[in-house]
Amino acid sequence: MKKLIEIRGVSVNFYTYEGVVNALNELCLDIYEGETLGLVGETGCGKTMAALSILRLIMPPGKIESGNIYFYNNDNIPTDLLVIRESEIRAIRGSQISMVFQEPAAALNPVYTIGDQITEVILLHRRQELARKVLAEIDESLTLDPDDVRRKITDKTQGVIPVHMLGNPCDMNRIMGIAREHRLFTLEDGCQALGAGYKGKKVGSFGDMAAFSLNVNKTITAGDGGLAVTDNKRLYERAFGFHDQGHIPSLLGVEFGARTILGLNLKLNELTGAFAIGQLRKLDRIVQTLKVKKKLFKDAITAGGVRNMEFRKINDPDECHTILTVMFPDARTARRVAQSLGTITVAESGWHVYSNMEHLLAYKDEDGNRPYRCHMLPQTDDILSRAVNLSVGVVDPGIGASFGINILSKDQEIQRKAKMFVDTVKSSEASMN
Ligand SMILES: Cc1ncc(COP(=O)(O)O)c(C=O)c1O
Repeated sequence: MKKLIEIRGVSVNFYTYEGVVNALNELCLDIYEGETLGLVGETGCGKTMAALSILRLIMPPGKIESGNIYFYNNDNIPTDLLVIRESEIRAIRGSQISMVFQEPAAALNPVYTIGDQITEVILLHRRQELARKVLAEIDESLTLDPDDVRRKITDKTQGVIPVHMLGNPCDMNRIMGIAREHRLFTLEDGCQALGAGYKGKKVGSFGDMAAFSLNVNKTITAGDGGLAVTDNKRLYERAFGFHDQGHIPSLLGVEFGARTILGLNLKLNELTGAFAIGQLRKLDRIVQTLKVKKKLFKDAITAGGVRNMEFRKINDPDECHTILTVMFPDARTARRVAQSLGTITVAESGWHVYSNMEHLLAYKDEDGNRPYRCHMLPQTDDILSRAVNLSVGVVDPGIGASFGINILSKDQEIQRKAKMFVDTVKSSEASMN
């Protein structure tokens, strides 16, 4: 059997005010591949000190006084862990030799976030294995372009995240077809489309899992927070554990069973949950009201006889009806119209457009390269530069929808806003000719 570790004469002392405390005295042992070594002894006998010494993690006032700890690599060449440089031990620690603490929760440092502490080792040693997000183009529906999704798939691709943007369901027939063909998981981002349907099914019921937002700028709101939905029990339990400190869901508000993962603490409070349930009951009524108002708004604009303007492609008439997106032939016209209406084009809106996400653009991968750059998605840039969002059910400058109507708008106001829009487009056209 191949030798893995050889400990020879390791002694550890702690220099305390009360004097020198000997924690390990001339420890000698060998560990071979496939072997499990059990150290049995009462508290304070040096079990943990032995493990910490191997990782060279004895902190002052403790000190490794003497000895050698040889770690054998694949070629059977020993390295003395007690003499190599700090950078060399760091490359081994957490990667080839790790320690699982007796009380994992107590081992966490309250000064740092749990997420940072859990991911530290992965970021240090296995960064290249972390999931990388690859951006794909959108099409004229302002949702993922299935053709580009297909083009971007490689043998490393694990999953696809269709975002049902601005209330419009993605082309789920094609996206799910591609996902099945390539055995990809599908995580639907339905944050902007809660209540929308596609081919007779609700969005969020196609993929392995879906997320919905309940923040103030969505179809319904509970103040903040959101919903995760899945019909997969295992995913449900993992998601539940992740949001509630690793607990297994009991649905009775009591803990039971052993925790299987180190979860975070992202629980929605009871009051917000109560609001969410109340709002969910109203959801269909809200979407129906928006459907009527959006149709009135759209018909009034169409009746205005504007040339050179189209409506965004809608993938299913059962969409959310929260936004009316209009498309102009070029970016200049779109900008001009938007400015005259006191709003901005979608390309200029900040939050959801990749080229305006300074934190995304600043991201560097493990080789120091920046994978996300402005102009990397020319089709998307072109479409967004020509698009202007008019509000119907969501009035949100963050997505460029500050001009338009809202769910309370009466017929007269809808007609007035449609006329304002039509007149603005016509006068922009006239001044540009
Ligand atoms: C498409 C999309 N995904 C995710 C989110 C995040 O939702 P929340 O703010 O509830 O975390 C938003 C919110 O703006 C969104 O529009």
